[in-house]
Amino acid sequence: MIITVDGPVAAGKGTLARRLAARFGYGYLDTGSIYRAVALRLLRAGTDLDDSRAAVAAAGSLDETDLSDPALRDEATGDAASHIAAQPAVRAALLAFQRAFAADPPDGRAGAVLDGRDIGTVVCPKADVKLFVTASPEARAGRRHAELRARGVEVSYEAVLDDLRRRDARDSERGVSPLRPADDAHLLDTTNLSIEAAFKAACDIVAGKQATT
Ligand code: C5P
Repeated sequence: MIITVDGPVAAGKGTLARRLAARFGYGYLDTGSIYRAVALRLLRAGTDLDDSRAAVAAAGSLDETDLSDPALRDEATGDAASHIAAQPAVRAALLAFQRAFAADPPDGRAGAVLDGRDIGTVVCPKADVKLFVTASPEARAGRRHAELRARGVEVSYEAVLDDLRRRDARDSERGVSPLRPADDAHLLDTTNLSIEAAFKAACDIVAGKQATT
């Protein structure tokens, strides 16, 4: 069983995907963390973010420690990730890893949940269940702002909203694998839906699919 969870930044897809994986005993891959890890390598080496060859080399040499680095969650890393994610060569270099995870999740688990931007459209177009999680920019910025404040980061709501709009535009308007729902995706708008209600709706969709396969 392959479940894809796509959507824009701070829509709640990570929380939803992680909970679905735990609920059904499936493997979970946060594909954003791979793009972030490549970006962090370049930032730390002081390499130009437009240097595709360096980014592809970093993509080919990622290991476990790269994927658990706390600096992956920094806003600067997320912003740099959306830059390198627009480069076709970088996306191609990360494709095989994501597909291998979906086809053969760790520990022999019976399924995989992958979250990202293009999982239902490009990485796993034949997935069993596709979810597209979204929310208004204002709602997403409000959540991200509260999250940053809780971590002690001093930033205004307006700055968070601006940053989120820039990331949305970059992710949606890029020529390769733009952010968009797959034609057969279930849309979950979390603007006025609690994470609990979204989780329940998602569980019902997955259970319905399990019953028919
Ligand atoms: O989801 P997250 O905010 O961690 O992703 C960071 C950036 O990586 C996104 O803004 C997006 O540009 C890129 N990304 C992507 N495709 C994915 C996952 C993430 O382009 N499947």
